[in-house]
Amino acid sequence: MSQALDPGLPNARFPFPAYPNGWARVGLSEELAIGAVAPIRFFGRDLVLFRTATGRARVLDAHCRHLGAHLGIGGSVVGESIRCPFHAWCWDGDGFCTEIPYAKRTPPSARMGSWPVCERNGFIFLYFHGEGSAPADEVPEIAEYSDPDWSPFVRLRWKIRSRSYDMGENAVDDVHFRYLHGAASMPTTRSGDVRGSRSNLSKMKLDTPQGQVDGSIESTNVPGMGLVYVRGICDTLIVITGTPIDGDYVDQMFSYTQKIGQDPVRARLGKALLRDLEKQMNEDIVMFEHKRYFTNPLLVPEDGPIADYRRRARSQYAGDFSKLDAGTNPSGPQPVPASRPRCDAFGERDFAELASFLRSAFRARRVERSEVDDRVEFRLLDREGDVEHTLVFDRAVLDRSELADLRGYLARPMVKKRIRSAGAAPFRVANDSFA
Ligand code: FES
Ligand SMILES: [Fe+2]
Repeated sequence: MSQALDPGLPNARFPFPAYPNGWARVGLSEELAIGAVAPIRFFGRDLVLFRTATGRARVLDAHCRHLGAHLGIGGSVVGESIRCPFHAWCWDGDGFCTEIPYAKRTPPSARMGSWPVCERNGFIFLYFHGEGSAPADEVPEIAEYSDPDWSPFVRLRWKIRSRSYDMGENAVDDVHFRYLHGAASMPTTRSGDVRGSRSNLSKMKLDTPQGQVDGSIESTNVPGMGLVYVRGICDTLIVITGTPIDGDYVDQMFSYTQKIGQDPVRARLGKALLRDLEKQMNEDIVMFEHKRYFTNPLLVPEDGPIADYRRRARSQYAGDFSKLDAGTNPSGPQPVPASRPRCDAFGERDFAELASFLRSAFRARRVERSEVDDRVEFRLLDREGDVEHTLVFDRAVLDRSELADLRGYLARPMVKKRIRSAGAAPFRVANDSFA
């Protein structure tokens, strides 16, 4: 792939792109035998995953360049290619057409979109880059995956209505462990560079039937995976892989492995730990699916290194994050004046209604309106076109839900009299006018 790709548009809940650059799990080795073909959908695209005769996992865009059949629905592997079920055109893993069984020659432009793929630690990864760049890094081997002293992976999988950038914050959100997950104590997370990768180390008390023990959770992000080492009860590694399905959903997977041969008490505690982590994830998901991302959250120092996480995580995206600096967020809470709410909802119809009210209340021939900064000026003109009265409204006063109040105020005999006696001089209507 060399062309720029849609990074997934910002939306009202998440004002940032949906798709991070990098390796993303799109399959599991154990589920893709030689000759297997699977339709998959990630990054808002239909794709086909297949394993060739020599055992290579490959990914192509799903729809055959000929007449658009879905290669993952009825396609079959022939040698190193996949054959389309519709008219039998064959495509290799680099997207080149290798055969059209009924044609004399292959059109030179016959090419399918193909994706860089790598297979490691039992996962099949695809490389996504919003600017179409080639892979800049490799997915590392996990030593525990091939170590006979560690158990085979046990998997948990969820489809979550969220975005990876937002969910990633959870690992450094110290306080929620106590209040959402009911942990005995709040962890304290420190960010730092561990073994060349950015890492967070949380130390906490872990509850066990034997009482509390000192524990630690170390989480590191490496290409394609989040690695979480839990130590204290029973040595456990959780490999987190999450891939955007589209702008709304993420396919999230936890793959667990634990050290075998720990004493029976520790092994039992290890099982309990896994059950607890699953419970925690289910609690987190309720938050993830209904929360909204604020770019200017109100934080206190005890909240953990959330701002630091956000700065780091942004570098994974090709899209524009420049508007995500505090205070420029269209979806975050905006400052409001202390007295009356500032109103942006006062639209053209409201202005027209106010103008028509002023025209009839003051028998004006015509009403002109102009806006300067946070003031709106109405000029009431007589039949000669001369300005008879000028009313200047602070914008904060122009609130759709309080338009009736405003009209009531302007219609009070005392107020009308003052407007009349001001002549063409500005008559100001401010928040405190209503006091
Ligand atoms: S649509 Fe695939 S070969 Fe015709
Ligand atoms: Fe959590």
